[in-house]
Amino acid sequence: MSFWIDKKVLVTGGASFIGSHLVEKLVSLGAHARVADDLSSGKKENLKKVAGHIEFVQADLRDRCAAADAVCRMEVIFHLAAKHGGRGYIDTHPADCSSNMALDGTLFEAAVKADVEHICFASSACVYPVGLQNKSDRPAMNLKEEDADPFKPGGALADGEYGWAKLMGEMALQAYHKQYGLKCASCRIFTAYGERENETHALMALIAKAFVQVDPYIVWGTGEQDRNFTYVGDIVEGLVLAAEKIEDGSAVNLGSSEHIKIKDAAQSILGIMGFRPKQIVFDTSKPCGVFSRAADLSRAQCLLGWQPRLSFKDGLKRTINWYLASKDRDEVLRNLDVRLCERESS
Ligand SMILES: NC(=O)c1ccc[n+]([C@@H]2O[C@H](COP(=O)([O-])OP(=O)(O)OC[C@H]3O[C@@H](n4cnc5c(N)ncnc54)[C@H](O)[C@@H]3O)[C@@H](O)[C@H]2O)c1
Repeated sequence: MSFWIDKKVLVTGGASFIGSHLVEKLVSLGAHARVADDLSSGKKENLKKVAGHIEFVQADLRDRCAAADAVCRMEVIFHLAAKHGGRGYIDTHPADCSSNMALDGTLFEAAVKADVEHICFASSACVYPVGLQNKSDRPAMNLKEEDADPFKPGGALADGEYGWAKLMGEMALQAYHKQYGLKCASCRIFTAYGERENETHALMALIAKAFVQVDPYIVWGTGEQDRNFTYVGDIVEGLVLAAEKIEDGSAVNLGSSEHIKIKDAAQSILGIMGFRPKQIVFDTSKPCGVFSRAADLSRAQCLLGWQPRLSFKDGLKRTINWYLASKDRDEVLRNLDVRLCERESS
């Protein structure tokens, strides 16, 4: 029998990009899903495919009473609620990102009091020391889970306030495991993309600019920086497996080991969308994050039997098709600058 049949599962931040895909997956596996989301960037519309099958609670989970109500009678929690966005958002909203520490603490405490069995935490590749990812003069490396460890000298220099909050969230969760035996896992998500993502993230920003035919076509940074892009369906598979298989608070990478330069991703997008700008400009005054980032997948393969399945090319085509079918060109053009730095609200 499936692990998930009739399981009572809370997805915090379940109206988000990744959260909504996760909720669809859990419903398809037979779980009873509750979503708690303050809709600060999530949208109820993201959950329309499963609207009749889930319980939805609009709540700010930094509030202790709201958190206690949300976790009540739940067996498993996927904790995705966070102030978060792509580089355009996290570098310009440090205080909002710092508030995630309070959110995580409140949620974990409420879950332990309610005897929740397991928490699967949506952590991030931003926990990794930036110094490991900023060297342009050596071969690109793939980050291993032990490279980020708050208890190891030199193991903690997270990527900005957002990364520090995720690292502290992982540490706090493990403390609940040590002290109370709470089962838990931290999934370090690396640059997810796919349907319903917003334009604060690099790929969606590049798709949006091609959609409205910005010319000169502007790419943030030198374009030489690389990322590993992982399709949201693969990320969701990894989250579900981590909740099933990891109980001791270990962190696991959910990403890809493939380094793709932003300038190459931009060319792929322009090619698929059939847009030929007269000029491509690399704007180094804009936030662009670390120089190189991709995941080592040894632990994910060993503990979860997981690695991403969809190729970047196929995932990109799906994402672009969704974007073209669901966005209004005039509206995107009018609000492009805001969309690149602000998470959409409902
Ligand atoms: N998208 C990525 O590439 C990526 C990478 C690493 C980690 N993550 C993590 O995955 C999770 C989901 O991210 P996402 O990209 O799908 O979208 P997102 O960042 O918009 O999701 C966050 C969700 O949390 C909700 N939320 C925020 N504050 C809340 C609060 N106080 N109470 C209740 N709900 C609140 C928002 O409305 C939203 O639905 C986040 O925790 C994010 O940090 C995402």
